Amino acid sequence: MTMTHAATSLPVICAALIVALALTVVPLPAQKESAATKDDSIYAELAKAPQKAVVRRNPMEHDPEAVAAGAKLFELHCAECHGENAEGGRKGPSLRAREVQQATPGTLFWILTNGVVRRGMPVWSKLPEPQRWQIVTYVKLLGVAEKPAE
Ligand code: HEC
Repeated sequence: MTMTHAATSLPVICAALIVALALTVVPLPAQKESAATKDDSIYAELAKAPQKAVVRRNPMEHDPEAVAAGAKLFELHCAECHGENAEGGRKGPSLRAREVQQATPGTLFWILTNGVVRRGMPVWSKLPEPQRWQIVTYVKLLGVAEKPAE
């Protein structure tokens, strides 16, 4: 009785071990891939803006001079990395990507204020707040553009 039991148990245990191993090993590459995709997204930082920042209204949104002023500031401070038309440059990604264009003005203001320093996006907190909002007004008006050929 005991012998038979042990004899049937061994293959069962082996099979269980194989299944357990397969379960631990197989999902790993999938998990790794999704984590890498998340980290690799240039625009991942936008999703990190706190709700309070996201809902902040742009006080310069209806200021007719904000667009022109924002365009000048963009040329001065941002074009170097993000390109003349914000379509992306050698150092910075396109700001006409859906991720940026669909972000709220408050989110963009938050990005400007905090930067993504470890990834090469400078902090613009020294730029007076109205100027940061002017840049946001300008960038939002550019709209979504197709990705330039890479
Ligand atoms: C020195 C180069 C440089 C300059 C100047 C610069 N940026 Fe960036 N910017 C970057 C880089 C690099 C990234 C990508 C950061 C990342 O990987 O998250 C970025 C990202 C962004 C993003 C997307 C946020 C995200 O999730 O990464 C926005 C919006 C942005 N920049 C706006 C601006 C604006 C507006 C200006 C001008 C005030 C500006 N940047 C100036 C390099 C620059």
